[in-house]
Amino acid sequence: MVSPGVQQYGFFFQLPADICRRLNPVRGALLVNNTVVIGIQWGDEGKGKIVDWLAEKSDVVVRFQGGNNAGHTLVLDGKVFKLSMLPSGIVRPGKLNVIGNGVVLDPWSLFAEIDSVIEQGIKVSPENLVIADNTPLVLPLHRELDILREQRAGSSKIGTTGRGIGPTYEDKVARRAVRVADLGNQGSLDSMIGRLLDHHNVLRAGYGAVPVDGSRLKTELLSIAGRLLEFAGPVWRILSERAEQGKSILFEGAQGSLLDIDHGTYPFVTSSSTVAGAAAAGTGIAPGRLGYILGVCKAYTTRVGSGPFPTELSDKVAHHLATVGHERGTVTGRARRCGWFDAVLAGQVCKLAGVDGLALTKLDVLDSLETLKICTGYRLDGNIVDRLPATADEQGRLEPIYETLPGWEGSVASSRSIGDMPENARNYVARIEQLTGRPVNIISTSPDRLDTAAVSGPFA
Ligand code: IMP
Repeated sequence: MVSPGVQQYGFFFQLPADICRRLNPVRGALLVNNTVVIGIQWGDEGKGKIVDWLAEKSDVVVRFQGGNNAGHTLVLDGKVFKLSMLPSGIVRPGKLNVIGNGVVLDPWSLFAEIDSVIEQGIKVSPENLVIADNTPLVLPLHRELDILREQRAGSSKIGTTGRGIGPTYEDKVARRAVRVADLGNQGSLDSMIGRLLDHHNVLRAGYGAVPVDGSRLKTELLSIAGRLLEFAGPVWRILSERAEQGKSILFEGAQGSLLDIDHGTYPFVTSSSTVAGAAAAGTGIAPGRLGYILGVCKAYTTRVGSGPFPTELSDKVAHHLATVGHERGTVTGRARRCGWFDAVLAGQVCKLAGVDGLALTKLDVLDSLETLKICTGYRLDGNIVDRLPATADEQGRLEPIYETLPGWEGSVASSRSIGDMPENARNYVARIEQLTGRPVNIISTSPDRLDTAAVSGPFA
């Protein structure tokens, strides 16, 4: 029983009600208007629905990393929108949508996406979409290199989305990427194409690919320059001004923290930083303005592509999770690998990615399972391990240690309040809170945006 004046903050934490709404209880800092949403597993945690739910109350929605390797499905008034590069606020009138410099932008793919949402009746113009002028461009040569490398790697391939994401980030770091603003400056464009092709044509020769013709690439880029430059702007300044005006900014992460280039299951990761701090570097906003960090995780775990996955299953539970959870990739259509919730990884990521609270998705997929397991530690070479080791070899040899919890009778599907959920479902959620050390603020119980229980924290 919670005493008066004390708010249940999640299932496990209690705080005085008056400060609960104003304070960020985990970091003790005054809550600013802003929220960063990140995935804390290997992507596909259901961030799209949570971001859409939060976007309704936000003024600005910002992408800060990744590219068109991401796929977000939104269902609005019965209409399905498949977004990849465009921030989720684009489907709502009156929101400013921003693509930050931390993103790698495939302009052809962006235009196709813009055309497709326009066809669905959405307005897209420089009034509601701004792209950072210092954003690197994904070019056809990046996509080709991504695919050539994966083909060459054979069974040791990363299992990338083949969108050229890795090669573009490599060029950015190596200081030879063509960026949005270069399209408006002849001198700069010539020089960047020169630097880029000096490198790529040598590399392509090694793969037996034909060299890229610089003047043809320039013509292709100039043919899209006008349309792209319309949207270009100094994102760092726009965000700083909006923040000073007290506008609410929502940062929309892509992929998940276990795919982070530094902290993930390297080398089976994406090429960007996917933790919350990337929202500052990937837009130019001050880190102190990031606000509340919401980590989204599924009530179980999935992964697409190659790489270690300690709690992966291949039995009838895996089949249940894959079929009931519709676990197929939004971008590539590949089947997702499925397994139990891994509290070691989730707890580790909550610390390193700066997570304040959790949004737990797809709890309904666990309906009707008799028993549930949560991974609470690993065995490695006869020792107990309580964190993800840094090498892929060790990660691949981890044996999960499980705790077993009873499943629940009845269903949590479409529950919109915690009180409607069976006791064992509530206990499962409480155990996740205890093990990760973070409150569950939001529970999603179906793909419908309304089937969302805001149970605690700043969103309740
Ligand atoms: P890349 O980002 O295309 O280079 O792919 C690198 C790894 O990240 C592969 O294992 C992909 O399956 C994975 N990946 C990239 N984007 C996503 C995503 O949005 N959801 C889930 N996995 C992703």
